[in-house]
Amino acid sequence: MPAVQSGWQGAGARPCRMTLRLSFSAPMTLPAKQAIWRVLVTGGAGFIGSRLVQRIGLEWPNADVTVIDDFRSGSFKNLEGFQGEVVAADLAQLRLEDVLQAKDFDAIFHLASITDTREMDQRKMCWDNIESFRRLLEFARPRLIPVTYASSAATYGIDARVNNETDPRKPANVYGFSKVQLENLAAKYLRQSDLAGWKLNAVRYFNVYGPHEQHKGAMASMIYQLYLQMKQGKRPRVFKNGEHKRDFVHVDDAVQCTMLAMASSKQGVFNTGSGEARTFNEVIAALNKALGTKLEPEYIDNPYAFFQPFTQADLARSNRELGYEPQHNLESGISSYVTWLEQQPQGKQS
Ligand SMILES: NC(=O)c1ccc[n+]([C@@H]2O[C@H](COP(=O)([O-])OP(=O)(O)OC[C@H]3O[C@@H](n4cnc5c(N)ncnc54)[C@H](O)[C@@H]3O)[C@@H](O)[C@H]2O)c1
Repeated sequence: MPAVQSGWQGAGARPCRMTLRLSFSAPMTLPAKQAIWRVLVTGGAGFIGSRLVQRIGLEWPNADVTVIDDFRSGSFKNLEGFQGEVVAADLAQLRLEDVLQAKDFDAIFHLASITDTREMDQRKMCWDNIESFRRLLEFARPRLIPVTYASSAATYGIDARVNNETDPRKPANVYGFSKVQLENLAAKYLRQSDLAGWKLNAVRYFNVYGPHEQHKGAMASMIYQLYLQMKQGKRPRVFKNGEHKRDFVHVDDAVQCTMLAMASSKQGVFNTGSGEARTFNEVIAALNKALGTKLEPEYIDNPYAFFQPFTQADLARSNRELGYEPQHNLESGISSYVTWLEQQPQGKQS
């Protein structure tokens, strides 16, 4: 293994991982820019995963990144310029040791998941999401590789309030249920005395939007859906009366929180949002401003009995324990996202 060139205590301390974990001095120490570290990103062809891969490539030129993705909902286009290795495989079927036995990772980011929340096949949702995570944990376990994994605000269900991490988990769909099982599985591993101190951190993402989500189609953020309508000169359609509120978080903030959760000495589950609840009317106003349009919303009936009226992340814990502070509010996030979208070649915006 090459010598570590820098001060990220996380990257150079192996083979003694206990030393590695305990050597973190600050709760928010990211690797130094020249650090040589080996990273596995599952779901790396997807929206958030590919933005994470891109950030690592830009900021840590010596990082050796491996992506595992079976491309069921990701796109190779998100990995344009990626220099690392791609393993195209279904994690729920894979023995990771068979394809990665030569590797030894410093950090694992687990973002692969069925993300279509309309998937009604409960067995498939649970098998694919839970089994993928179980196999990954078994792979990471002998070396106690830190794993940072994606959970979701869907674990809170439709409880309309500012949620903090200690609130009861009441998922309203099987997608949210599968994420609760990931958190339970991680907690079960951590109760084993020989694994105490292994770092398995969950980031509970709220409504993420931003570059690299175009491939998601109907599952892309409402911000992107409304942008597409308005680009075509159509009035943006939202449920009556546009006053439902969401915690919309820019993908770069979500990635930052994910990185901080990986580097932190803290253990647990961390809300990953903007910390603000904003209405769909406000989204449309920000899009109008960014696009230079004056399109009025068209309000339509809401057919869903269980539509979430409100989501908002309480960020106190993520702020205190990770040092996470979102850099974008809704207006600045939409403005920079629209700038990015407008720079895409024709046809790549959708
Ligand atoms: N985007 C959001 O607003 C949001 C909110 C809450 C949680 N999350 C979570 O964040 C993570 C990333 O979501 P995203 O928005 O980037 O979605 P995405 O669909 O763009 O990315 C998921 C990626 O995982 C891959 N994948 C799925 N199952 C796999 C399997 N069994 N084996 C290998 N690859 C597999 C897909 O091909 C895809 O590339 C997911 O875990 C998701 O549940 C996202």
